Amino acid sequence: MTKAQIGIYGLGTMGSALALNMADNGFDVAVTNREVAWITSFMDEASDLAGDLAGKLHPYDDLAGFVAGLASPRVILFMIPSGRPMDMMIEAIAPHLDPGDTIIDGGNANFHDTRRRSAELTRQDIHFVGMGVSGGESGARYGPSMMVGGTAHSWAQLKPILRAIAAQFEGDPCVDHLGPDGAGHFVKTVHNGIEYAEMQVIAEIYGLLRNGAAWTPAKIGKMFAEWDKGPLRSYLVEITGKALQYDDPITGHPIVDVIKDAAGQKGTGRWTVVEAVRLGQAANMIEAAVGARSWSSEKDTRQLGEQVLGGARAAITLGSATMAEAFLAARILGYAQGFRILEASAKEYDWPLDYARIAEIWRAGCIIRSAMLDDISEAFQGELPAGQLILSPHFAQELARCIPALREVVAAAITGGHAVPALAAALSWYDTMRQGFGSANIIQAQRDFFGHHGFERLGEEGKHHGPWWD
Ligand code: 6PG
Repeated sequence: MTKAQIGIYGLGTMGSALALNMADNGFDVAVTNREVAWITSFMDEASDLAGDLAGKLHPYDDLAGFVAGLASPRVILFMIPSGRPMDMMIEAIAPHLDPGDTIIDGGNANFHDTRRRSAELTRQDIHFVGMGVSGGESGARYGPSMMVGGTAHSWAQLKPILRAIAAQFEGDPCVDHLGPDGAGHFVKTVHNGIEYAEMQVIAEIYGLLRNGAAWTPAKIGKMFAEWDKGPLRSYLVEITGKALQYDDPITGHPIVDVIKDAAGQKGTGRWTVVEAVRLGQAANMIEAAVGARSWSSEKDTRQLGEQVLGGARAAITLGSATMAEAFLAARILGYAQGFRILEASAKEYDWPLDYARIAEIWRAGCIIRSAMLDDISEAFQGELPAGQLILSPHFAQELARCIPALREVVAAAITGGHAVPALAAALSWYDTMRQGFGSANIIQAQRDFFGHHGFERLGEEGKHHGPWWD
């Protein structure tokens, strides 16, 4: 009987798509699922597909049989909900495994859990890999971007399979081994933080045009479709342009006009913010995006607020060229904030993160893929003053060109009563980072006044106190 090169536990949307992708690429894949009925329906689906992928898929309805069906050293990919289910599955499967085997968590797991699991399993010489998989169902089926953590031993086994199934950017597979233990899952978490920021920026631009300039959804969609042909090209711009041009099959109205304006969030954006703050990083665009999602879910309160506080919003007359430049500036700043969090995590956890390579494996397959990632990768390989992306020659120049438009858009929005938390955060962060002398000196005076905390004097070493303590 053929021993499978990899096993997939969990035949939900992502797990089954990955299994088909691997079979499509010629790998023998053992598959199983907690609900046995899912295995049958998955195999039926595979049999119906062109190329009869079922021949490369080996179903098992019991864990022992599933493990026995794997070539050694075994590689088992779990595509199951993050959290407690992963711990339960580790408990269930570890007794069946041998030293040198690898368990992979391909879910959106919290990297702290991944670090813990990796340390626990190391004691049994079992390798634990946290792998971020980006690109949704179609990405998993035809080419995701994958961010892999774990040991070199596991990567040596995973590399040929993952490079074969990954999205390709000009022949370069969008997958790599980024570092030990939680590195892969954390890079995915920050990917999602950048995703949240970009989605919020797009929502704010859409909102200004829809609610401020009274553009129709279709007109806004056509603008995004145009932007997707130029320097703003990205997956999120592409799908936004398409979504805005659909009509609701039930009412005939633009579909976006019948969707409730309350955003969901499974938590990865929130984790990014929590970790950023813990690492001493202020990713105010990502925080604004997470906050905006939370506020959007308070629909009833906001409707009451409109009655009590008045919901007036002024008309906005900003052209699409100005919006495009404002968006480009905000995208640069959003990516820059994400990479600063990664840099802080690399120091904290001693991960050898390669930022140029991370930008490269985001160029295709993942949700934040965009035309800008090539320039970001190049910037990380070149002169980077103080390690800051926004100070690189290319991006400093791009920001100088586009910030006036961001300033104009934020000013018009705020003056007109339109909420633009992410765009405003982007501008505030930019303006902060270009001030050699800010205003934190008065905070130091206050802290010393009430708490005797002391302060540094300009150009002098040591701790000083104000004359209020004489
Ligand atoms: C990806 C996406 C995906 C995302 C889920 C839920 O990279 O494919 O980021 O993993 O986490 O679609 O996203 P929310 O956090 O918005 O619920």
